[in-house]
Amino acid sequence: MRQMRIWVSGARGKLGAEVCRQAIAAGHQVIEADLTGPDPVDLMDPEAVARSLDGADAIVHCAGIASPENIEPVRLFEINTITTFNALEEAWKLGIRTAVLASSGSIYGTAWSPEEIGTPDVPIDEDTELRYVDPYALTKDVLERMGQSYARRGVQLTALRFHWILTRDEVRRYIAEAPPEDNRRNLWGYVDLAEAARACVLSLQPRTHNPYATLVIAAEDTGRHEPTTDLLALHSPRTRIHADLDGTASLFSSSRAAEVINWTHQSTWRDQ
Ligand SMILES: NC(=O)c1ccc[n+]([C@@H]2O[C@H](COP(=O)([O-])OP(=O)(O)OC[C@H]3O[C@@H](n4cnc5c(N)ncnc54)[C@H](O)[C@@H]3O)[C@@H](O)[C@H]2O)c1
Repeated sequence: MRQMRIWVSGARGKLGAEVCRQAIAAGHQVIEADLTGPDPVDLMDPEAVARSLDGADAIVHCAGIASPENIEPVRLFEINTITTFNALEEAWKLGIRTAVLASSGSIYGTAWSPEEIGTPDVPIDEDTELRYVDPYALTKDVLERMGQSYARRGVQLTALRFHWILTRDEVRRYIAEAPPEDNRRNLWGYVDLAEAARACVLSLQPRTHNPYATLVIAAEDTGRHEPTTDLLALHSPRTRIHADLDGTASLFSSSRAAEVINWTHQSTWRDQ
């Protein structure tokens, strides 16, 4: 892969910092854009965004509000949508034609819905209907639609629907060792932090097919020890199952990511 200058927004956050680390390890240069750090950039300010993008070949946009907790919905909506618009629009004006956007598995509405919306069908993939009713999911739908509009203008654009981004220790703590009811809405899924960042870096490679792609990025297993079918039978009995779910198989399918960016989740929290 050709060496690039990659502009990473949210570079001081959980995902962005790991993207920077992997991009540098792969021989790329990185331009950090974050509210914090030695050279802060506020993505709400288009002129600041344009200045920081100078010399970039590609963008990986991870800046934003990663959870609707502790923030007013209007502020969440404002930050997540305007930061994405500024990143895409200023990159477009500068001739940058490769972009990766951090979408979320929360777009399915399962994680943050104020009331139970249920999960009618599994596995969940990119063709699963969006039934969200919460503002966080709405911001990710708007992000993807913005991405599609720039893809129509010639940007190779990849929107990655990450499941809950966790380290192995965090999977153990928040999912495996928690009561199963706690993560029922999330269907006990996760994506390892390093695997999520690897999906971002792989998405930068040129593609002739699929210049626009939305991809589910999730581990191939759940964060639980119980068989997945037992979990569903006990905690989500109305969910219809459309695949063989051996053992602790995930209820999210990332097979499109394997086709489009050659990404599969290569580790599991069960590894030592
Ligand atoms: N963490 C998860 O489980 C998860 C899952 C799915 C999707 N995502 C998405 O991935 C992205 C990164 O998530 P994260 O967990 O790394 O979040 P994070 O909170 O750790 O990092 C976000 C970064 O964005 C920066 N930021 C916020 N507003 C900014 C602004 N106006 N200008 C510049 N920088 C700004 C923050 O300073 C922070 O460093 C987010 O878009 C999030 O919605 C996260």
